[in-house]
Amino acid sequence: MKKILVTGAAGFIGFHTSLKLLKLGKKVIGLDNLNNYYDPNLKLSRLKILQKSKNFTFKKIDLKDEKKLKKIFQTNKIEKVLNLAAQAGVRYSLINPKSYIDTNLVGFFNLIDLSRKYKVKHFVYASTSSVYGLTTKMPFKESSTTDHPIQLYAATKKSNELIAHSYSYIYKLPTTGLRFFTVYGPWGRPDMALFKFTKNILSNKKIEIFNFGDHSRDFTYIDDIVQGIVKSINKIPKRNKNFNFSHPKLAESSAPFTVYNIGNGKKVKLMKYISEIEKYLNKEAKKNYKQLQKGDIKDTHSNLQKIKKNLGYKSKTSVKKGVKNFLNWYLEYYKIKR
Ligand SMILES: NC(=O)c1ccc[n+]([C@@H]2O[C@H](COP(=O)([O-])OP(=O)(O)OC[C@H]3O[C@@H](n4cnc5c(N)ncnc54)[C@H](O)[C@@H]3O)[C@@H](O)[C@H]2O)c1
Repeated sequence: MKKILVTGAAGFIGFHTSLKLLKLGKKVIGLDNLNNYYDPNLKLSRLKILQKSKNFTFKKIDLKDEKKLKKIFQTNKIEKVLNLAAQAGVRYSLINPKSYIDTNLVGFFNLIDLSRKYKVKHFVYASTSSVYGLTTKMPFKESSTTDHPIQLYAATKKSNELIAHSYSYIYKLPTTGLRFFTVYGPWGRPDMALFKFTKNILSNKKIEIFNFGDHSRDFTYIDDIVQGIVKSINKIPKRNKNFNFSHPKLAESSAPFTVYNIGNGKKVKLMKYISEIEKYLNKEAKKNYKQLQKGDIKDTHSNLQKIKKNLGYKSKTSVKKGVKNFLNWYLEYYKIKR
């Protein structure tokens, strides 16, 4: 039976997407190196849930390991690839830049090159809203420029889009890049704001609020992201012979290549996000206001016209509901009685 290879399957988005694909009756090969960028126990707990399905197989492999990666393609009929494995995080790219080159460039190359060698039907991969970099024209549209990334994380993701385009063009490998906007929800990442804020508020520690709280984000609930990913996997981009290269639209091509924003479509102030946590926990956060962090973008906001029109995507979850769902999961998972 044909299979979908999901990389980063033990990660936050990879876990939720694999779970959804399994519910839809798909066979999933989940790949992850289970690295310790954040607590690997959380990754193992996610995996335990996925492994309850007979249609799920797990491979502990590093994307850098081309030989082991190749074996997966040799021994399975991989129909589609969803590449979610990455060194994620904006701030960490100033601390350990090489890890971004290793996974997001070398690893990405290994995977896309095998995908074209083994004639995968669709290569879908995670990009990020961070590619919009210095662009301040909001909301960000796929056709906005992404030529001004402000940290290596964004630069590697932008490179992924460029590599994907070259493969789509020259090898006719259909590729779809997904620019996710600040994803949050149950089983979320410990290095991200919601997790850190919750942890500190519950243990009476101060929370760090950068740019003196003057940030806004298009916070996107995990179920909405998964909806967008699944819809994208199902829609294989086609060649467009009528593409006009004398007036080329950014993020479009004559090649079977496309890029989508997946967001909530709303700009929410950071302080409002924090107040939702405080309200639900019925506890005021001790706040430590700080300067803008190097590498941070001040605001993000997605324009969703393209994904709505092409894929029928609808974002459904409010920040109020999404934060509540996260907090319920957090309290239960860490067995915190209140
Ligand atoms: N969460 C967000 O808000 C967000 C926003 C924009 C883009 N993204 C992108 O979405 C994707 C998924 O993000 P996430 O939030 O689930 O992150 P995550 O860190 O929870 O998941 C990534 C997974 O990839 C694995 N991995 C890392 N390097 C690997 C390697 N060399 N080989 C094999 N596995 C490796 C990790 O162990 C981890 O389980 C990433 O590409 C990320 O850059 C996430």
